[in-house]
Amino acid sequence: MRRLHSFLGLVVAVLAVVLAISGAILSLDPALERWGSTIPANGQINVATLAGRVAQHYPGAEQIQRSPSGSVIVYYNQDGQTGVDRVDPQTGRGIVPHAVSPFSRWTKSLHRSWLLDTPGRVASGLIALAMLVLSVSGSVLLVRRLGGWRHLADSLRGNFIQRWHTQVGRVVVLGLLLSALTGLYMSAATFALISDGMQDEPDFPSAVAGGPAAPVTALSALVATDLNNLRELVYPSPGDSSGVYSLATDQGEGYVDPSSGALLSYQPYGGFRQAYELIYKLHTGEGLWWLALLLGLCALSVPLLSATGALTWWQRRQSMPRIVGNSAANLADTIILVGSESNSTWGFANTLHEALRKAGLRVHTAAMNQLAAEYPKAERLFILTATYGDGDAPSSANQFLARLGKVKSPSKIGFAVLGFGDRQFPQFCKFAYDVEATLLAQGWNRLLEIDTIDRQSGQAFTRWGNAVGQMIGHELNLVHTPKRPRTDAFELIERADYGEAVQAPTSILRFAAVPPQGFKGHVMGLLGGHGLPHFEVGDLLGVVPPGSAIPRFYSLASKSGDGFLEICVRKLPGGLCSEFLHGLPPGGRMDAFIQLHPDFRPAAGKAPVILIGSGTGIGPLAGFIRNNTGKHPMFLFWGGRDPASDFLYKPELDAYLADGRLTGLHAAFSRIQNGSYVQDRVLADATQLRELLENEAQVLVCGSRTMAKSIAQALDEILVSLNLSVATLKAQGRYREDVF
Ligand SMILES: Cc1cc2nc3c(=O)[nH]c(=O)nc-3n(C[C@H](O)[C@H](O)[C@H](O)COP(=O)(O)OP(=O)(O)OC[C@H]3O[C@@H](n4cnc5c(N)ncnc54)[C@H](O)[C@@H]3O)c2cc1C
Ligand SMILES: Cc1cc2nc3c(=O)[nH]c(=O)nc-3n(C[C@H](O)[C@H](O)[C@H](O)COP(=O)(O)O)c2cc1C
Repeated sequence: MRRLHSFLGLVVAVLAVVLAISGAILSLDPALERWGSTIPANGQINVATLAGRVAQHYPGAEQIQRSPSGSVIVYYNQDGQTGVDRVDPQTGRGIVPHAVSPFSRWTKSLHRSWLLDTPGRVASGLIALAMLVLSVSGSVLLVRRLGGWRHLADSLRGNFIQRWHTQVGRVVVLGLLLSALTGLYMSAATFALISDGMQDEPDFPSAVAGGPAAPVTALSALVATDLNNLRELVYPSPGDSSGVYSLATDQGEGYVDPSSGALLSYQPYGGFRQAYELIYKLHTGEGLWWLALLLGLCALSVPLLSATGALTWWQRRQSMPRIVGNSAANLADTIILVGSESNSTWGFANTLHEALRKAGLRVHTAAMNQLAAEYPKAERLFILTATYGDGDAPSSANQFLARLGKVKSPSKIGFAVLGFGDRQFPQFCKFAYDVEATLLAQGWNRLLEIDTIDRQSGQAFTRWGNAVGQMIGHELNLVHTPKRPRTDAFELIERADYGEAVQAPTSILRFAAVPPQGFKGHVMGLLGGHGLPHFEVGDLLGVVPPGSAIPRFYSLASKSGDGFLEICVRKLPGGLCSEFLHGLPPGGRMDAFIQLHPDFRPAAGKAPVILIGSGTGIGPLAGFIRNNTGKHPMFLFWGGRDPASDFLYKPELDAYLADGRLTGLHAAFSRIQNGSYVQDRVLADATQLRELLENEAQVLVCGSRTMAKSIAQALDEILVSLNLSVATLKAQGRYREDVF
């Protein structure tokens, strides 16, 4: 879906911008026209009265038209000269000569047919179709990205350009859908693919009453027609004794006998004609000036959507490694499929691809989601995949398991899985293990035992390469140095140090963005704001310490809206990143990037929130409380060593308790007399917790893996009597962990 959206967007971008801008210009017409017209109340002026007033000023009137926006226009012939005037319906007096401006005519022709004839009309129709597909695919992508319709109003994720694209798209999508759909219908009607009902014209009356013509003000059919329903009144030719008035209203068409005033051969509009008129009105806004302005505003977003869409596509393309000499899937003897979220696994795959190619194999490398239904020549399949979330697939592999069953003759292809992960996460390389188990269960032939790579270890990759080399009978020397991720600079503006006395030096570090130099910095300054990338509390900060290309992750204790970036870091003896961060003086800088972590945050709603953590795990929990401005019930259970030394966030928590953002604070300290751990506090408050959990409370746990395990055990004990368990809460999305 994303590929269809990007491809189509790129192909039609320029044409769609022209169509949208010309549409936006035309959308002003109904409002301008309406502004210059007098609209009488219903029942105030009938067509006979109007015709009488017009006759006083235009004895040679030939036709009266009322536009959907309410202007009344008279076509007349005076002394052999024809003219067209806009008239005041109250008096019948002319206001100005009526003429469509050449610019307006040109814009309309550009919009409808690219100043060409039939080929231009076909082009406009095709662009309307493309806009429809883009609006629908964009909506589907947006809903998927936000995690369902219910989250449609949630805050958006991604970098500055992606967020502008999705934010603007979210606001205008309904308008663009309406314009595209109605435009497409009108094109179809132009090419007679759909009937517009115009063929159902009334028959010319076979006989008229004869006799002298009555004054126009006395004609009963005209007296019975309100001006606001009039479309057009065409006068009979002067001197034609069998001539009739031709009357069109918004309901139908007929003829009026000039002597009896009777309505002859009246034909009400059929369903097709009514549908066409409604759709025409919805597309042009004629008669609905406010809709026209709204649609015009939506159309103005198209240049912005095209530019941000193209930039997003370009950024994504730039971040993907280029695979040189990639064989077609149906010709390759060796397939490499990659599961990756932030692209580092692609670098390893590329190294493997090159080495196998040099060994004389025909190699095809692709994302796991691009698994083909058939690999006719393939002898071996390598799967290199990372794991994300709580042991889940990364985004380029999230449809892989569902597609696997459709592959033809899998038993002929041998496979080997290599997992990429980080032992700090509880579910180390879990997705890679799931993939291997599924391949075995579906009858694939395993060539090598599954292997894993912790934190992009180059040595482990080389070792695996040796095993692959033995298997294919060709020495493989896989040397891969991970690329340093793209980072931004941040400057330390504030720090609070705790825990030195209890051998747990921990600091709360607050950073500001370092504005980029030059033009980009100038633009960002003009746009205002704090220059921080977008992030939410609970997302991760990937810090790249000097001397390493491998980032260390820290749970964010602030959201970008707070105006600063805050993390809580424990110093580990000999730890490269934590020691570097602890050594930063105010004004010191670090290089870091935001890693989204949408699985860890309170779900929307008013259910009570139970926050549980120990040590630095308090960081995001304190951030959730800081942002609990709606003052939903929030309870914090937290464990430290000694309140005199490492009671992290103590002043802030006291303030949150006082102003109601925090409902209850339950702290436990292990290195004091009769010390206890946070799981002990949880067990001691079992009654209250049970009550909260019965009331749909959700639980968020953050901190060390051992603590998280003890908490899960304690809660399982508490939940037994409710016939609930941590596993059930997890399945219901009410138990979320950020554990390291
Ligand atoms: C999702 C996630 C969130 C995290 N959030 C935070 C956070 O909010 N605050 C925070 O301080 N840390 C957090 N961490 C841990 C952090 O990413 C680093 O691993 C930690 O700071 C150590 O990095 P280092 O460069 O100092 O140590 P390294 O140079 O990587 O390692 C040095 C030594 O320390 C050992 N070591 C590494 N990590 C640990 C550990 N956690 N416990 C004990 N020994 C360890 C290593 O085995 C090695 O022997 C988080 C980790 C993850 C995966
Ligand atoms: C939010 C997040 C969640 C992760 N979850 C896991 C996990 O559950 N198990 C694991 O082994 N690794 C986990 N990892 C580590 C990645 O799998 C690892 O860094 C991998 O090398 C990234 O590869 P990629 O850059 O190709 O996406 C996680 C990383 C992040 C940022």
